[in-house]
Amino acid sequence: MSEKTIHIVSHAPHANMPAIPAALEQPSGVLFDARNRPLQDLRISLTDKCNFRCVYCMPREIFDNDHVFLPRSALLTFEEILRMTKIFVAHGVSKIRLTGGEPLLRKNIEQLIEQMAKIKTVDGKALDLTLTTNGAILAKKAQSLKDAGLSRITVSLDALDDATFKRMNDADFPVSDVLNGLDEAYRVGLDSIKVNMVVKGGMNDQEILPMARYFKNTPYTLRFIEYMDVGASNGWQMQEVIPSAEVVRRINEEMPLELVPPKNVSDTAERWRYKDGSGEIGLISSVTKAFCHSCVRARISTEGVLYTCLFATEGYDLRSLMRNGKSDAEISTALAHLWRARGDRYSELRSAETEGIAPARKKIEMSYIGG
Ligand code: GTP
Ligand code: 5AD
Ligand code: SF4
Ligand code: SF4
Repeated sequence: MSEKTIHIVSHAPHANMPAIPAALEQPSGVLFDARNRPLQDLRISLTDKCNFRCVYCMPREIFDNDHVFLPRSALLTFEEILRMTKIFVAHGVSKIRLTGGEPLLRKNIEQLIEQMAKIKTVDGKALDLTLTTNGAILAKKAQSLKDAGLSRITVSLDALDDATFKRMNDADFPVSDVLNGLDEAYRVGLDSIKVNMVVKGGMNDQEILPMARYFKNTPYTLRFIEYMDVGASNGWQMQEVIPSAEVVRRINEEMPLELVPPKNVSDTAERWRYKDGSGEIGLISSVTKAFCHSCVRARISTEGVLYTCLFATEGYDLRSLMRNGKSDAEISTALAHLWRARGDRYSELRSAETEGIAPARKKIEMSYIGG
C-alpha cells in the first residue's frame, strides 16, 4: 500500500485569546507601543491562496496539491474585516494594505474596498487604501478596483526575462501579464504605482540592471527588496541575500544615483534618485539595515489573528473575540493593551546576533500573513 504524505503547514502558531481588561477605555486616536512606535499601518490578508508559487514565499514542494488551505469559514468575513478596520482606525491607523496570498483571488474584493473607502481617519481624512498584488489578473481587475475606491497599488515583479520570472513564480506566468496589469492600473488612474522586486542571489540578481533600465523614466517606482528569512518553508540562507548596498553599487555604475531624504520616518524603503532626473528607486533592506525602530505596522492574518511583527511566533485571535460576542469597546481595549506591550524588533535582533543563519523558530508564512 502506498502512503501519501499530507503537508499541513500550521497556519497560526500560538494564537492566544487576548485578555479583555476589566476597565474599558475609549480610543484616543493615538497608541504607542513599548518602544514609542505609534500604530499607524494595518495590513490585512484576504486569502492564504495564491496562483503563484514564488520560490521565496510558497515553494511548490511545500505548497503542493496536498497542501490544505484554510476553509472558507475560517476566513474573516467582509463584515468582520470592516469592523476590525474601524477599531484600528480609531486608534490612529491611517494606512490599510490588503494582501494575501494573492488578494485579487478573494471573491468580490471590490465590495470590501467600496466599504473600506468610506472609512475616515481620526482626522477625518480618507484612508490611504492600497493593495499588493502579483499582477497576474490585474489587467482584468484594475478598473473595478479603481471604481471601488482603491487609492494606489503595489505590484510584485521579480524579473523581465520570462524564463527567470517563470523560475521565480514557478507557475508559468509570463512577464507580459504583469506588465499589462501595470499599464492598465496606470491607465485607470491608480496612484503612485510601485513595483516590488525580491532579489534572490543566484536566481534573479542578473535582472537588477534590466529592471532598473526598464522602469527608469516610467510612472512606476521600482523597489528592490532583500530576500528575508520570513516563514519556515523557503530554506533561507544569508549567502542568497544581495545587500541593498550592492544593488545600489551595480546600478550607480551605469546610471548614477543619489540618496533622497525619506518622506516619512516609518517608510520601509530608502529612496535613491537618478542624477539625470529620470525618476527614483527604493531599497528595502530588512536584512542588512533593519527598520524596526520605526515600525508602525500591525498585521491581521486571513483568519483574523493579529501579529505585531512579521516574524512573530505568537498572535492574538481577534476572530474569536468577534465570534464570541465581544463588544467593540472590549476588543478595542484589548488591542490597546496588546499594542502598548509590543516590543518586537526581530530584524534588528537578527542582524545583531546572526551571521548567515535564520534562527530556528516557528515563524508564520508570508502567504498567510501578507507582505
Ligand atoms: P508603501 O507605503 O507603498 O511604501 O509600502 P510599504 O513599503 O510599507 O509596503 P510593501 O508592502 O510594499 O513592502 C514591501 C516589502 O517590504 C514587503 O513585501 C516586505 O518584504 C518588506 N516589509 C514590509 N513591511 C515590513 C516589515 O514590517 N518588516 C520587515 N522585516 N519587512 C517588511
Ligand atoms: N523576502 C522578502 N520579501 C518577501 N515577500 C514574500 N516573501 C518574501 C521574502 N522571503 C514579499 C514580496 C512580495 C510580497 C507579496 O511579499 O515583496 O512582492
Ligand atoms: Fe504569491 Fe506573492 Fe507569495 Fe509570490 S510572493 S507566492 S505572488 S503571495
Ligand atoms: Fe516591524 Fe518586525 Fe519587521 Fe521589525 S521585523 S520592521 S518589528 S515587522
